[in-house]
Amino acid sequence: MIIAVDGPAASGKGTIANALAMHYGLPHLDTGLLYRAVGIAVLRAGGDPADESEAFHACGFDNALLTDPGLRSEAAGRAASIVSAHPSVRAALLERQRDFARQEGGAVLDGRDIGTVIAPEADAKLFVTASPDVRAQRRFDELQRTGLAVTYEHVLGDIRTRDERDSGRGIAPLKQAEDAALLDTSALDVEAAVATAIGLVEQRRKA
Ligand code: DC
Repeated sequence: MIIAVDGPAASGKGTIANALAMHYGLPHLDTGLLYRAVGIAVLRAGGDPADESEAFHACGFDNALLTDPGLRSEAAGRAASIVSAHPSVRAALLERQRDFARQEGGAVLDGRDIGTVIAPEADAKLFVTASPDVRAQRRFDELQRTGLAVTYEHVLGDIRTRDERDSGRGIAPLKQAEDAALLDTSALDVEAAVATAIGLVEQRRKA
């Protein structure tokens, strides 16, 4: 079974995808990490994520980078969003994601274009979202716990910019697949969101 989980930044899609993978005993790929790795590789080389050829060359990053704690930073998220708008970068990362989705037994993948481009054949598709305010508050709380000095307004501004860039790009933009079930986590805690997600996947499997 292939499960595709898409949605905007801080919607809870990663947590939900992880929980679904555990529940169904499937391997999980957080595809945002691939774009984050490219973004960080460009920044560390002193390059500009907006430069397509620099970003494309960074797609040959060492797999060890995928476990680097720096990938979770806001700077990495911003750089990832910028490099991910380059068609050559998306093309370079495509097969790796498709191979993961099509492995024997299936998989759970989360990202922005899993249900639309990477695995349109997925057995179950979820589009996980939440209001920008709720997402900014979650990200703000997370950053505060790690001791980072940021303001809520700054985080909200960042989320809005990222939404616009991810949804407005010409290639594989963030959008709900026609056959994806919508899951709004604005008013749900983690347990309720996961339980709802499992219920939606079960409905799709039976359909
Ligand atoms: O899910 P995330 O915040 O780690 O993703 C970081 C950026 O990577 C996101 O702003 C857009 C890009 N991305 C993408 O374009 N396609 C994906 N499948 C996953 C992430």
